[in-house]
Amino acid sequence: MSKVSNHDPRLAVEIAGIHFNNPVLGASGTFGYGLEFADLIDLNRLGGFATKGLSAKPLAGNAPPRIVETHGGMLNAIGLQNIGARAFIEEKLPRLRGYDTRIIANVFGYSDEDYIEALTILNDGEGIAAYELNISCPNVKEGGIVIGNSPDAAARLTEKAKRASSRPLIVKLSPNVTDITKVARAIVGAGADCLSLINTIVGMSVDVNTRRPRLSYGTGGLSGPAIRPIAVRMVYEVARTVDVPLIGIGGIASTSDALEFIIAGATAIQIGTANYYDPTITMKVIDGLSEYCENQSLENINSLIGSIKAE
Ligand SMILES: Cc1cc2nc3c(=O)[nH]c(=O)nc-3n(C[C@H](O)[C@H](O)[C@H](O)COP(=O)(O)O)c2cc1C
Repeated sequence: MSKVSNHDPRLAVEIAGIHFNNPVLGASGTFGYGLEFADLIDLNRLGGFATKGLSAKPLAGNAPPRIVETHGGMLNAIGLQNIGARAFIEEKLPRLRGYDTRIIANVFGYSDEDYIEALTILNDGEGIAAYELNISCPNVKEGGIVIGNSPDAAARLTEKAKRASSRPLIVKLSPNVTDITKVARAIVGAGADCLSLINTIVGMSVDVNTRRPRLSYGTGGLSGPAIRPIAVRMVYEVARTVDVPLIGIGGIASTSDALEFIIAGATAIQIGTANYYDPTITMKVIDGLSEYCENQSLENINSLIGSIKAE
């Protein structure tokens, strides 16, 4: 578990005062609690990762089947299974702290109070760099409205979460809205330090023999290369609307995919579904970004952020 420092200095980025050795992060829910990847890749080389969504209390998740493959991606309805915030601090963080990578705790709840309770527990966790709020959850007290689909509900939660958290706050946007810039503006106005986008897009797949949905939950979240153009478009739109740093997510499976997001306006990127078929993809993208800097004679990857030539 030795810390190494042979990072390419051209790739270093900063978000809300946090230094990342490079802009390549593992995405929440596809990267476990990080330790699952310790034997597959050099975690010390990774810019950082977002944990599986953590709630105040442990959750078992939905019944199987919870994942099905679709063209260019997959649908999941895991149901946010997790060990709970306290167990994460006690069982995972002590080992994770030994690595030179930024740990982002992804947090969710089914009411504003749930989120605050989880954040309050996590504030005790030494070594967490930032929080990422997953707001693509139904709010039970508000008749099941998805918080991230309402600018008002999202802003209210952000304001409370910002007050409750001792660390920089990243809010992860839901793409299941008509105009993502409205929600983005409301959340930044409420104090978010950074936005990450996008979460999965609600979808459905049907087994034509049984005529039942292929997921036991019915609908699920679509992820993977199929959603990438939508995600790039949303990063581009949000980057022109707010002035906090953005983390781009959605279907990234290669260096050029990652570059699309950076050029469209993202300071960093997260890789999700691609880890399932290539657990070393994050390392390949880091190497690929260095190569791109070399070939393009870039002194620093920061000069690429939002450098898109449009209009
Ligand atoms: C199996 C699975 C579980 C996920 N769990 C979470 C989660 O707990 N919290 C969260 O914010 N996003 C979660 N996501 C969404 C991803 O972090 C990411 O936003 C999305 O999959 C798009 O990126 P990708 O196309 O690279 O996978 C999950 C995605 C998948 C596929």
